[in-house]
Amino acid sequence: MGKILVTGVAGFIGSHLAERLLGEGASVVGVDCFTDYYPRALKEANLACLLGRDGFTLVEHDLATAPLEPILEDVTAICHLAAQAGVRASWGESFAIYLDCNVRSTQRLLEAAKSCSLTRFVYASSSSVYGETDDLPMRELGRACPVSPYGVTKLAAEHLAVLYHRNYGVPTVSLRYFTVYGPRQRPDMAFNRFIHAALEGRPIEIYGDGEQTRDFTFIEDIVDGTARALHDGPPGEVFNLGGGSRVTLNEAISVIERSLGVTIERRHLETARGDVSDTMADNGKARELLGFAPRVPLDEGIARECEWIRSLGA
Ligand code: NAD
Ligand code: UGA
Repeated sequence: MGKILVTGVAGFIGSHLAERLLGEGASVVGVDCFTDYYPRALKEANLACLLGRDGFTLVEHDLATAPLEPILEDVTAICHLAAQAGVRASWGESFAIYLDCNVRSTQRLLEAAKSCSLTRFVYASSSSVYGETDDLPMRELGRACPVSPYGVTKLAAEHLAVLYHRNYGVPTVSLRYFTVYGPRQRPDMAFNRFIHAALEGRPIEIYGDGEQTRDFTFIEDIVDGTARALHDGPPGEVFNLGGGSRVTLNEAISVIERSLGVTIERRHLETARGDVSDTMADNGKARELLGFAPRVPLDEGIARECEWIRSLGA
């Protein structure tokens, strides 16, 4: 399977993806600079299943500044997941970090990739590129008009991927992930916060009335779609990867309550700037060209995230 570079390997999705690729027999060079968006200790825990495994190498490098040619030596494919990933924190002075981690790092990696002979360069894009729309489900050819600075940087990097494909033949495939959840989910994300609060008997904070909807996607399904794009994705293309579990946040909270057997006290705050009202993926293109079919329903996925969070307490 060759040698695959996974950027953002210490993160939620990157660590799961690297595990899957090693299991398929690939060797993996994982890059991460342990940004302080959330604690390093959590990222080291994500890496625990990878360190010491045959075929895995960790390189601690900042993609925005480090020389990239040495880490690309003998690499046959790239999965570029490194980013500053929070939607609501991307306003104000923090935007400089989003520019460095999401735009500048991607442009530098694409530039370095020009002189490698890669089979694929898979870029982790986001449903946040769509912004606010009544035209659901979201289709790849629909309007992309982000409503958060984060979404602007993810769309900019997606455009860069297409440009480097057209101009230099870099075999880029962009994947628009829809709200991913499951074990190792980032600590700023809704389910992680809600499950921790529920287990500790604290109230949760809901931005707005909780009637916003998300097409929640379980981590194993995202990893499967990403692996499929890495093997067979048509270069130059963009794909939605959604879980097919679109529910309101209020409904998802009820699923958490049933899974834990508790009642969660809810506090409502203002709607957060940059949040979209609804997401829903049209997976038709990914189904047809990648054979993508999400398998894990929301109740099962939430139960598995609850189990993981419980195991941390133990
Ligand atoms: P994460 O924060 O857990 O992982 C990202 C990792 O990238 C972190 O470990 C961070 O230290 C690393 N990183 C950031 N900037 C870097 C740089 N300049 N150099 C080296 N490493 C750097 O986030 P995640 O939730 O696993 O998201 C992974 C990717 O998927 C991101 O590109 C994100 O935008 C995208 N995405 C995530 C979701 C989701 O629901 N989690 C949905 C859509 C898209
Ligand atoms: C998620 C990821 O965090 C982004 O990295 C990714 O790009 C995006 O999905 C995507 O699909 O592209 P988000 O949908 O905001 O972003 O995911 P959550 O943090 O799980 O939030 C889901 C909903 O819960 C949002 O409406 C949010 O406002 C709300 N929320 C979150 C709360 O009400 N309270 C909280 O404490 C946290």
